[in-house]
Amino acid sequence: MSANNEGFIHIDDLDQHAADTHRPTIAERQRVDYREIAKEVGRLGEGKSYFIRTHGCQMNEHDTEIMSGMLEEMGYKAAREMLDADFILYNTCAVRENAEDKVWGNLGSLKPLKARNPNLIIGLCGCMAQEEVVRDRIRTTHPHVDLVFGTHNIHVLPGLVEEAHHSKETIFEVWDAAHEGTIENLPRVRKDDVRAWVNIQYGCNKFCTYCIVPFTRGEERSRLPQDVIEEIQQLAADGYKEITLLGQNVNDYGIDLQDVDFADLLEMAAQVEGIERIRFTTSNPWNFTDKLIDTIARHKKIPNYIHLPVQSGSSQVLRRMKRGYTREEYLDLVNRIKTRIPDVALTTDIIVGFPGETEEQFQETVTLIEEVRYEGAYTFVYSPRAGTPATRLPDDVSEADKKQRLYRLNDVQDKISLEQNQKLIGQVLEVLVEGESKTNADVLQARTESNKLVHIVGSKELIGQLIHVKVTEAKTWYLRGEILPQGVGV
Ligand code: SAH
Ligand code: SF4
Ligand code: F3S
Repeated sequence: MSANNEGFIHIDDLDQHAADTHRPTIAERQRVDYREIAKEVGRLGEGKSYFIRTHGCQMNEHDTEIMSGMLEEMGYKAAREMLDADFILYNTCAVRENAEDKVWGNLGSLKPLKARNPNLIIGLCGCMAQEEVVRDRIRTTHPHVDLVFGTHNIHVLPGLVEEAHHSKETIFEVWDAAHEGTIENLPRVRKDDVRAWVNIQYGCNKFCTYCIVPFTRGEERSRLPQDVIEEIQQLAADGYKEITLLGQNVNDYGIDLQDVDFADLLEMAAQVEGIERIRFTTSNPWNFTDKLIDTIARHKKIPNYIHLPVQSGSSQVLRRMKRGYTREEYLDLVNRIKTRIPDVALTTDIIVGFPGETEEQFQETVTLIEEVRYEGAYTFVYSPRAGTPATRLPDDVSEADKKQRLYRLNDVQDKISLEQNQKLIGQVLEVLVEGESKTNADVLQARTESNKLVHIVGSKELIGQLIHVKVTEAKTWYLRGEILPQGVGV
């Protein structure tokens, strides 16, 4: 990646940078089998326990499942409480400042634990580890951290833990890119018995001007379709019912491979028997093709639900964000989707208070959400990220105004979400029963095709099953429903 003296990619060079990026062909695809690397892994964890605290997106959640798999192969057992663990690992997120602040607060509070248990190992990994400023701060103010590694080398964790056991110094092992290509056959301890995550693509090439992800996760790399499908087949054999295909730009899947795109991969995944639902996240409006829309429309197993982050309703702001589409193009895409998939449920991500966002431009975001009528939106105040081009854009919007905009936007969206949910009262919907409700063990939680949470009262034997429920009550964030006798509504 070319950068100027300040370590920034200049905003005007971004298109050139994208054009320069080398796209390996399928023959050049580097692919490493973890089983080959893991031959040397010892049983250092025997009798010891680990605890991983995960921040950030599904990608990090899934990385945690992989790292748990590696640690358990070393003999480690999961600790119930962080305080009981011999190895504490923070899997961090760098996307907004408040995500980082939480980690700094928690890391500081671990210091006294070291005095209690001198053999305790404290590690930090994930997106924050990729930032030079973070590593410097650990060196100067958090020397009690034993091990720092990044997003590109989680597969070498066993060796790093061994090193950390023998070293008095903090070990820093952060790679600037995925030198070894995609790693296959990684062990995993999955958190759920019904739903599973499947990585299809790593990294991001989009370089939206506010976003740190391309810097922390590197260039886009697609897993080979056969590796993805084999993993899904294994999940089906293990009894999983729902999978979520993961990537920062899933609809870019295959740009670094020949003759396969995301729609093809979805098509192949839909053929796997036993899997009832195939979800994906995150798809980008930038290259959402008609072929992809048709594939979603054609398969019952692919829910009619799309998370389609818009970020702003103002074309000028979108341009400054380098999102690659205008308000009109986004709305046109939404119309194309709604025409082909009439009952589609849409959700989105929005950033308010982007540098220089005027009140009028903010109002364009409000009118956009009113027009699209999303089922829900994840809304954020813009957070400057060191090294990203947006930090150099002039910004005359006060913090108070930014917060106000967030509240105002949330009020509008909450009203829409409630109205959308109320429309479902009396309807019979197919839901996948996920487990007990997190807040009440007497209630089961299930999810509609549109990813809405439904609380139902029923036997725990229903967990993992697709059943029909009648919606009886609607709240902003969830629905209540009653189970229909088997066979009704099918
Ligand atoms: N790849 C996904 C987004 C991943 S980050 C996509 O493009 O849709 C998840 C969300 O965090 C983004 O959609 C954006 O809304 C938000 N986000 C990213 N960087 C941010 C920043 N600097 N400040 C505030 N929100 C940000
Ligand atoms: Fe960030 Fe944009 Fe990539 Fe999403 S597409 S991860 S917002 S740079
Ligand atoms: Fe955060 Fe990294 Fe995900 S910055 S949102 S954990 S890709």
